[in-house]
Amino acid sequence: MTDLERLTTNEGWSTVQPALDLPRIQALASADMAAVDALIRDRLSSDVVLINQIADHIISAGGKRLRPMLVELAGRACGPVSAEHHQLAAIIEFIHTSTLLHDDVVDESDLRRGRSTANALWGNAPSVLVGDFLYSRSFQLMVELDRMEVMRILADTTNRIAEGEVLQLLHVHNPDTDEAAYLRVIERKTAVLFAAGTQLGALASGADAVLQQKLYDYGMHLGYAFQIADDVLDYTADAADLGKNLGDDLAEGKATLPLIHAIAHSAEPVRTRLREIIEAGDGQAMPEVLAAIHATGGLQYSQRRAAEYAEAAEQALEGLAENEAVAALRGLARYAIERTH
Ligand code: IPE
Ligand code: IPE
Ligand code: MG
Ligand code: MG
Repeated sequence: MTDLERLTTNEGWSTVQPALDLPRIQALASADMAAVDALIRDRLSSDVVLINQIADHIISAGGKRLRPMLVELAGRACGPVSAEHHQLAAIIEFIHTSTLLHDDVVDESDLRRGRSTANALWGNAPSVLVGDFLYSRSFQLMVELDRMEVMRILADTTNRIAEGEVLQLLHVHNPDTDEAAYLRVIERKTAVLFAAGTQLGALASGADAVLQQKLYDYGMHLGYAFQIADDVLDYTADAADLGKNLGDDLAEGKATLPLIHAIAHSAEPVRTRLREIIEAGDGQAMPEVLAAIHATGGLQYSQRRAAEYAEAAEQALEGLAENEAVAALRGLARYAIERTH
């Protein structure tokens, strides 16, 4: 059997497994991910040198490649995977990467994937424009697939991501942002791309509408869990491990779940002080904010909410025929909330 044939069957993927840990998941997905990586590199290029420099800077820094891995594993959970999965995975990673280039401009972040951000090195305008390049490249890849259903899903998804980013902007410096508003933002800015990835993996494996819905629900819940965990890490992680600076959210006046919880559960005068800090986007006030978050159990509360979403993600997989890819998806639901970067 050739490598290509092996890639397009589920041979070697044994059945019935407990949730897998990350190294095992990565080992399982490594052949698929190597194919995706080759495709990403192949389709990155442009004859405009600055595009290559900036795109290569962020893409070669790696990142976890979690979203493309989800496409592949969702595909394997539902049937054999093919070149179409690799193309979809590359599309999803290009969309994700373009949102990161834009996000770091909006958030004025200077560290990403352990490197200086593109905006820190080249400035805002090149970062936004190369983000647009990657975004439009993803649409070129999409059109090559020539499947209207795929284009509809991805067009709707990218539109919702853009809405999420703008919705988030409207909440910056707003101390009245509550948990419901926060959840509306993270659904759009993060969870819908996870959901699209897992649904598309299923669709490309020939899954019917019911099975696609299960994988969509899994991805959606996982996306919520992942973003809540990211927002906790912005307060708690080790910056070198995270590859991003801590405290970016506070410094830009973004109230995420730990702080939203602290405001809702602090007594005066702390409550008023926290509200002022959000209005000012006062990154210097981090020690005060952390004290209030600790005093109100804001981190534990957020971790519990993330765990609930991760559990809902696992539950969405119930009824799937068991195989190692399903076990890997369950493992990723746990990884999303236990990770340190
Ligand atoms: C960062 O996503 C943006 C969020 C939704 C929190 P990742 O944490 O997946 O970023 P990379 O791709 O691994 O760098
Ligand atoms: C994720 O939000 C934004 C995107 C979906 C691009 P964050 O602003 O929290 O992401 P990081 O922390 O910069 O990666
Ligand atoms: Mg950011
Ligand atoms: Mg963040």
